[in-house]
Amino acid sequence: MTRSNTPTRVGLIGFGAIGRSVVDAWSTTPVRGHTLAALLVRDHQRDEALRAVPPGVAVCTDIASFLAADLQLAVEVAGHGAVISHGERLLAASVDLALISVGSLADDGFRERLAQAATQGGSRLLLPIGAIAGLDGLLALRRAGLSSVKYTSTKPPASWKDTPADGPFDLDALTERTVIFSGTAADAARLYPKNANLAAVVALAGLGLQKTVVELVADPAATGNSGLIEAAGPSSTLTVKVAGASAASNPKTSQITGMSVLAALDNRGSAIAFI
Ligand SMILES: NC(=O)c1ccc[n+]([C@@H]2O[C@H](COP(=O)([O-])OP(=O)(O)OC[C@H]3O[C@@H](n4cnc5c(N)ncnc54)[C@H](O)[C@@H]3O)[C@@H](O)[C@H]2O)c1
Repeated sequence: MTRSNTPTRVGLIGFGAIGRSVVDAWSTTPVRGHTLAALLVRDHQRDEALRAVPPGVAVCTDIASFLAADLQLAVEVAGHGAVISHGERLLAASVDLALISVGSLADDGFRERLAQAATQGGSRLLLPIGAIAGLDGLLALRRAGLSSVKYTSTKPPASWKDTPADGPFDLDALTERTVIFSGTAADAARLYPKNANLAAVVALAGLGLQKTVVELVADPAATGNSGLIEAAGPSSTLTVKVAGASAASNPKTSQITGMSVLAALDNRGSAIAFI
């Protein structure tokens, strides 16, 4: 990718825990080589969003006006539904799409349709690292021949409320670390769409959705969320753990997620970039 002297016009989809953190941080610290041009929100969020964004940012409640903002890059921080509703259209319209709801790509047919739309539009689907780290190392190990990848996500029991674990496990009564799911990344992404985005991104960078082992853990002693990748290849192993606080307005989300998106954009716009 060449670096342009003209800032990339970015549209942000979503104004929840991550979207707000991105807008707030972007308003105080510019992002190298990128300008926030549009924000796609729900109708009821419009007034609050208008107060939050700097002047000149188009606050949109429909995809047509969002696309009319002449975007080169859309960043999704809204959820699987937004990727399903808008992904193909954005990519086919030559807008690159960075999506954080990576679990939406666990459906092979949908992932293929997005890839085709990107080919048709000459655009790219970009997967930010999100609230984990180490995908660069995983890609290197894959190149060398990976033999195993396990991803473990540990969160306080309350973070697993309103998931398939809520019922079979009495989450309020747990007194010790409890594995609430163990299986493939494909099943984790299907059953836990709001919690298994990182399982999906680790799988896509590594051994794939069927061969990546995922463990989801409810731990009453956990004060935040943590993600652990353990991978092995013929000559190297990789162990990466990221732990941190969950977002105040959404305990399923780690606070670092929004910053990972801004860091990825900063890197894209930098004269000296990490690749
Ligand atoms: N890859 C990662 O590291 C990672 C980590 C956490 C969350 N996520 C993903 O990010 C998503 C957002 O997380 P969050 O904590 O900000 O969630 P959230 O529920 O706090 O906010 C999502 C916001 O997006 C809005 N929204 C949904 N569909 C929309 C659409 N089509 N158009 C406009 N707005 C729409 C919702 O109304 C809500 O305000 C999650 O659903 C999850 O899929 C990824």
